[in-house]
Amino acid sequence: MFNIAIDGPSGAGKSTVAKAAAKKMGFIYVDTGAMYRTVGVAALRRGIETTDAAGVARILGEIAIDVRFVDGEQHVYLNGEDVSTDIRLPEASMAASNVSAIPAVRAFLFDLQKNFAKNNNCIMDGRDIGTVVLPDARLKIFLVASPEIRAERRFKELKERGTPVDYETLLEEIKQRDYNDANRPIAPLKPAADAIMLDSSYLTVDEVVERIVTLAKDAGA
Ligand code: DC
Repeated sequence: MFNIAIDGPSGAGKSTVAKAAAKKMGFIYVDTGAMYRTVGVAALRRGIETTDAAGVARILGEIAIDVRFVDGEQHVYLNGEDVSTDIRLPEASMAASNVSAIPAVRAFLFDLQKNFAKNNNCIMDGRDIGTVVLPDARLKIFLVASPEIRAERRFKELKERGTPVDYETLLEEIKQRDYNDANRPIAPLKPAADAIMLDSSYLTVDEVVERIVTLAKDAGA
């Protein structure tokens, strides 16, 4: 199977470009963040503190996560229920971030992620795909954009949705999240030694997608 790993900080545009590139290439797109979000939602629903490593580890045996593709869109199921909308709620972001620092959760999702890559040509995005999950991926991309550009994109997105936000606050949050992701002891965000760095700061979505598709073809896809 031909696997492509795309890692990078929050807001660099990984899911947008990974989804578009996968569509162009006929690959499946696997969003691993959605899986961490699902574990987060499962904990929230049970009233378990998402920073409580032992508590969260205890419920892993009770939850089944399934990922299916409906019209090319990834849907995530928690014990049979489609939770694709719930995992995008703001509280799910924080819950995902908390549970993703728990080793038992990472081990639990590792097999699920590995199986996708074993059975499908896929583009998988996350934080540790090139370093931990798919160290043998045929192409590894580390997608970055400056914190200011990411804050600006997020600002525009929220404004269009009618959510009032302060740019400086967004920028601070992004910097804080970058620090947390890069400095956690387990599977920290860092480029694999053989990853290709791609800076999306001054590129359009189409340009980034084009580069990824070209790199994949050059790598033999
Ligand atoms: O990409 P996202 O925002 O949906 O990810 C949600 C959280 O999960 C984020 O805090 C980082 C974490 N995550 C991770 O630790 N490892 C991954 N492979 C994917 C996401």
